[in-house]
Amino acid sequence: MVGAGQLARMTHQAAVDLDIELVVVAESPTDPAVLAGARHLPGGPGDREALAGAAGAAPVVTFDHELVPGAILSELEAAGAVLRPGPGALAFAQDKLHARKELAAAGYPVPAFAPVSGPGDVTDFAALHGWPVVLKARSGGYDGRGVAVLAGPGDLPDPPGTDWGTPGRPEWLVEEHLGLAAELAAVVARRPSGESVAYPLVRTTQVDGICRHLVVPAGVPPGLDEAATAMAVRLSGWIGAVGITAVELFVTTDGRLLVNELALRPHNSAHASIEGCVTSQFHNHLRAVLDWPLGSTGLVAPAAAMVNLITPAADVDPAANLPAALEVPGASVHLYAKTSRPGRKVGHVTALAGSTAAALATAQAAADILLRR
Ligand SMILES: Nc1ncnc2c1ncn2[C@@H]1O[C@H](COP(=O)(O)OP(=O)(O)O)[C@@H](O)[C@H]1O
Ligand SMILES: [Mg+2]
Repeated sequence: MVGAGQLARMTHQAAVDLDIELVVVAESPTDPAVLAGARHLPGGPGDREALAGAAGAAPVVTFDHELVPGAILSELEAAGAVLRPGPGALAFAQDKLHARKELAAAGYPVPAFAPVSGPGDVTDFAALHGWPVVLKARSGGYDGRGVAVLAGPGDLPDPPGTDWGTPGRPEWLVEEHLGLAAELAAVVARRPSGESVAYPLVRTTQVDGICRHLVVPAGVPPGLDEAATAMAVRLSGWIGAVGITAVELFVTTDGRLLVNELALRPHNSAHASIEGCVTSQFHNHLRAVLDWPLGSTGLVAPAAAMVNLITPAADVDPAANLPAALEVPGASVHLYAKTSRPGRKVGHVTALAGSTAAALATAQAAADILLRR
């Protein structure tokens, strides 16, 4: 697995269960998966030689992020590495403009968008669709970094400091600013031989672009639930995804179901599957990339909720509050061995209950204790 963050850490735990020898390619010996005891090789996402060495030694290569440049992925594949997912599918998670264009061309519903290689492209788009608009970095963004709502032309970022790219290679895209009735995530595991399973649809809540918590079931009308899940299954097959694909979806206040973005790896929106589903996303990711039979995604309780631990400041230490948080009955705490920084995701809490409200209350109670000063 290329990358050794919390997703690799939790994949490592699943690999231990199945006695799979998972080797992670880590940028630092203090990465979360390395601290959890995963065997590791040193290397960053742009490190050609390290990746070639790791890929040459592994029957299957998978990822905990989407940061390896497409050119390196293609070289690895040409040299005989088995990449799951492969470069073509990964491009949908690496490049938001590519994803928007391809999805729109294939008839998937997406927000109105346009490529941006200068301020004029934004004002032209706003003239058609109105302000505010959403400006997004084409690549490299996560947790809302790289996403900005512009209320008017006065909010346009000002060069120098802005790399707008060129008309041939725009670095940004602009989108209509949507009124959101809900944000959903449909998560699918798919084997190369074609079998796929879908996790129960999740409703996520973002604050400042970062997921704060989620509940499952999503509590949307049955028709919408089925449509969202079926679309995600179709989409993962259409792009040839292997392993976990997470499809972030918008439900707009005017009733549209739109695809926001894709992730082709285990995803934050399915962390509740560890306790909440028969088979966690981490087990199914491994099973899928090895082309093994996939496990049931059924919920083991009527409802589940997950709260992310996002540290407000460097002096908040969830590990120090752990014993107190473990007093909360029914809360399952996961800490990622990451140091606190403002806005950093350092763990999560899951709870199962008879209702999403009860599950969320339990998970939030433990999270509040963990984030105490
Ligand atoms: N076009 C939009 N209209 C309204 N809100 C948006 C739009 N695009 C993104 N957002 C908000 O910003 C969040 C992060 O955007 P997203 O494109 O998913 O970027 P990231 O890669 O940082 O997750 C979304 O979950 C949503 O809450
Ligand atoms: Mg997102």
